[in-house]
Amino acid sequence: MNNIPKAIEIKKDIYYIGVSDPDLRVFDIIMKTANGTTYNAYVVRSSDGFIVLDTVKEEFEDEFFTKLESVCDYSEIKYIIMHHLEPDHSGALPELVKRAKNAKVLLSPMANPMMKAITNSETIPFETVWTNKELKIGNKTFKFMSTPHLHWPETISSYLVEDEVLFSGDVFGSHYYDKRLFDDMVGDFDYAFKYYYEHIMRPFKSDVINALNLYDKYPIDTICNLHGPIIRSNPQRYIELYRRWSSKEDRYHGKKVVSIFYVTSYKNTKDMAQAIWEGVDKDKTLLSNMYDLTALDEQNMLTILEESTGIIIGSPTINGDVPKPIWDLLSCMMVLEKKGKFGASFGSYGWSGEAVEMMNQRLKTLKFRVPLQPKKIKLVPTVEELRECYEFGIEFAQIVNGKMVEMTL
Ligand code: FEO
Repeated sequence: MNNIPKAIEIKKDIYYIGVSDPDLRVFDIIMKTANGTTYNAYVVRSSDGFIVLDTVKEEFEDEFFTKLESVCDYSEIKYIIMHHLEPDHSGALPELVKRAKNAKVLLSPMANPMMKAITNSETIPFETVWTNKELKIGNKTFKFMSTPHLHWPETISSYLVEDEVLFSGDVFGSHYYDKRLFDDMVGDFDYAFKYYYEHIMRPFKSDVINALNLYDKYPIDTICNLHGPIIRSNPQRYIELYRRWSSKEDRYHGKKVVSIFYVTSYKNTKDMAQAIWEGVDKDKTLLSNMYDLTALDEQNMLTILEESTGIIIGSPTINGDVPKPIWDLLSCMMVLEKKGKFGASFGSYGWSGEAVEMMNQRLKTLKFRVPLQPKKIKLVPTVEELRECYEFGIEFAQIVNGKMVEMTL
């Protein structure tokens, strides 16, 4: 039997030339990939030449080129559309450009400064495309859409009009390898689809909604994504899942939520948390809650953080540092949208009290708005100091509700 890899025709004149990485168990340092992954790429035949859509990770480029060669000669390739420049999709681009000398690369204007840094080549010719731009080539028409941050700032999607195919980039992807390729053939991969959304798309929910609104203009028969099963059985189901996960639920009838997270050794930081909460809670247009982080798991933290407009974090300083439950909270925020959120920090300390500044700095790094100086109290708070905590809570609530202040540096 001939084992030379070949392109697979997924619709008339549209071929899959992607590769699989079944043994991969961790992607991008943070994502578990129990079923491996795929790096999807495609080539479309038009009556006036071929269009390649994305490439693959460099270490798999031989297989990618063999598959591409099973469909066309390099001289017949007129365009290379790059939906996203991350190396898992652009790894074979420098070599493809050398071989396909007649091809023009099309990508987002935001990819311009990245192109050289990613490919280490200054000679790759490219043009930029964005929403409402189109490419007409022979009997095929591609409409482009800017879909930034899904998953990198320069991401675009494209829609092949005549075949009703959406090339969505990383959107609707999953790290899930199955050689049967299509969603209706591979069995249940919902866990991987949701996990991928939560790690890649969740920090950019408003960009997801913008992308879905762009996709809505077109009838979609098939979604050709960049990872995992190609979606052809019921694209609308997957679109609706993304819409549901990205939509903000108004559970509190317009009330903003302020959440106070704390850990405490000798109750001093807890007493501060209580006084701050009372200050916030004075404003009945807000909804505020306190949480002891030592007994909160990560999924619950994420849900609460996501719903909160204001986040106040309290911790004592232990050996000059912030204890682990606080770091867990601060690091899990990587997968959340931080736009429009306010943060503050507080804590009781015995010796040096570095923790509050560390928390404040981390909140700023995460792009929270941090309007107040951290509230720091040595050991047991006095009645007067608890009063200051109460005032701190009142002021934070006012700021969350729109009071203008200068941000601290
Ligand atoms: Fe699949 Fe964001 O690269």
